[in-house]
Amino acid sequence: MLRHDVGAPVRRHAGTLVRRCAGTPVRRPRVLVLGLAAVTLATTTAPLRGQVRVASPDGRNVVTAQLREGRLTYSLARDGRALVLPSLLGFEFREAPPLRDGLRITDTTRQSHDEWWTQPWGEVARVRDHHNELAVSVAETTAPNRRFILRVRAFDDGVGFRYEFPEQPGLGAFEITDELTEFSFADNPRAWSIPSDRPRMDRSEMLYSSGPLSVLDRVQTPLTMETRDGRTFIVLHEANLVDYARMNLRTMRLEDRTVRADLAPMGDGIKVRGRTPFVTPWRTIQLADRVTELSPALLGLNLNPPNVLASTDWIRPMKYVGIWWGMHINTMTWASGPRHGATTANAKRYIDFAAANGFGGVLVEGWNVGWDGDWIANRNAFTFTRAYPDYDLAEVAAYARQRGVRLIVHNETSGGIQNYERQLDSAFALYRSLGLDAIKTGYVTDTTAEGHSHWSQFMVRHYRRVIEAAARNGIMLDVHESIHDTGERRTYPNMMTREGARGQEYNAWSGDGGNPPEHETILFFTRLLAGPMDFTPGIFDLLIERGTGRPRRPDEARVRTTLAKQLALYVVLYSPLQMAADLPENYEGQPAFQFIRDVAADWDTTRVLDGRIGDYVVVARRERGGQSWFVGAITDEEGRTFDVPLSFLTPGRRYVAEIYADGPNANWLDNPLPVTITRRTVTSMTRLRLVLAPGGGQAIRIRPAG
Ligand code: NOJ
Ligand code: CA
Repeated sequence: MLRHDVGAPVRRHAGTLVRRCAGTPVRRPRVLVLGLAAVTLATTTAPLRGQVRVASPDGRNVVTAQLREGRLTYSLARDGRALVLPSLLGFEFREAPPLRDGLRITDTTRQSHDEWWTQPWGEVARVRDHHNELAVSVAETTAPNRRFILRVRAFDDGVGFRYEFPEQPGLGAFEITDELTEFSFADNPRAWSIPSDRPRMDRSEMLYSSGPLSVLDRVQTPLTMETRDGRTFIVLHEANLVDYARMNLRTMRLEDRTVRADLAPMGDGIKVRGRTPFVTPWRTIQLADRVTELSPALLGLNLNPPNVLASTDWIRPMKYVGIWWGMHINTMTWASGPRHGATTANAKRYIDFAAANGFGGVLVEGWNVGWDGDWIANRNAFTFTRAYPDYDLAEVAAYARQRGVRLIVHNETSGGIQNYERQLDSAFALYRSLGLDAIKTGYVTDTTAEGHSHWSQFMVRHYRRVIEAAARNGIMLDVHESIHDTGERRTYPNMMTREGARGQEYNAWSGDGGNPPEHETILFFTRLLAGPMDFTPGIFDLLIERGTGRPRRPDEARVRTTLAKQLALYVVLYSPLQMAADLPENYEGQPAFQFIRDVAADWDTTRVLDGRIGDYVVVARRERGGQSWFVGAITDEEGRTFDVPLSFLTPGRRYVAEIYADGPNANWLDNPLPVTITRRTVTSMTRLRLVLAPGGGQAIRIRPAG
């Protein structure tokens, strides 16, 4: 009975509000019809004083905010089962006492929201934002009587909460030294994680490992977890990171199941500088019964403000090729010299290849002065407007335009942030004047030239500045060595894709031999839940013979997948800017290249048909603005067979399935190249049997027949 207290979802139209001041009767008779029962119970039930709840629209996810000995905590239950136990909220400041103790609830407000919105591009076209909101105002009972609001939104696919600091006498300018937000798990779930404090600490370019939450140390988000009974998948992350430090997580006590927000510091150790009024990013807890329901993750997008751009017509997903892999396998250089990749002639060759094969863009790296010598150490020497003498930017831009291809400009900063920001306006104005509307940025460094963590508030502000400058100049962005995605693309759809994980490039040169076959099956359920990734699939010369002059040995860096799996990655690893990463010459005479030519880069619908983290994934997506479906299936080092019902197809309609499967005896280790291409007629009643080789995959295009 008590469950219908203030926590009962208030079902009304979007935007209506019920307000209750603690200990006083309801003030707005207008909403009594719907709010009365809830409010009356809460104010008359002594044991529940200091405790308020909000439930998701389906009633399954319930967040309780509660005062415990003067401290504000929250907890989370799903289907009545505790997932997150009462967990601490609060902050520590420099030169001010912690904001944590001696609190009282002064006010609560509620709101419900139900709205559909359309993504200009994405994994799905239409998104439903359906949630119930609870805002809990708290204040210190003693001076300086600081106050904040805990705003909670409960969705069917998870919950988000954030802190809001109104303007107030007791809190003006502040310096946060620690955010005390905790996540105390009832269970000791299994977590798939990458560290936040070990080699390449600021780049997210590590391999994932899995283990019980209690043995984690410091890790990055999104952090994907599975409860021990397998009933619930939980993903911790954040949304709408605008002017704050990135949140990592750290375990609080050894053998404990509590993780705490671990904010990335600026050079002087301060985590966040701010001034009221101020809001933090949302802390998000995505929930699903089955792992296949985690993707596409929409919770974070719903917690970002809507698109602010007047027009998004110019923002177009595309596939692209680039003067890129050659540098990674050492057949070309970024620097000037005899093997300089970014020459006018080379760029035109790539543009011709793109035009001939229907690619939307061509990336050119190493075009601008600054690459000679140690380009990481010399980061402040990069210019973003001056090209090397053998590269005529204006000529290449004009040629690209004439061939109907977009030139993607490369801006590697190596973390020389002020150097880049100084040039931002002039560089973007130049690109704009040449009709260039896409940039790939890069931040190869561990600490910025200014001495800040890659993930600090300093960098968060920088990334935002670049997004805004790009938006003003009509430029789409692909960011490498990026901070994690917190849903920026909803507000700025020109922020299209990013790296922020260990991508294909590691297969070219990494000392540990490249990405293991399971890697992408983990990425899908971890990194990709934050947003699109520029993984750069599509390597056909898997043993990198053209680079090395001989097939690379199994212990050397090479691509540890079959060729069919490279094709499947186009469907599995979503990116609105999707690269065909290999050298054009490696696609010549390859029938399997047709799949890369055909596959879409923008989707109307996405269905995850099957999957297990670290083992396999099967995904079906319908192209945006068309009737074709694409299926991608990938496996780890084990061969697997799937029976896939095509029930997602329109009933009664006939389709042709073009199937790119691992060939006989294919396997990633010593026979990765064979691909069998077959065609057959299918309908929504068909079950397709997909046989995947060890380290293999399968890619299918299903287009309407006739
Ligand atoms: C690392 C990026 O991930 C890669 O794509 C780029 O080629 C190099 N940095 C050079 O900027
Ligand atoms: Ca990288």
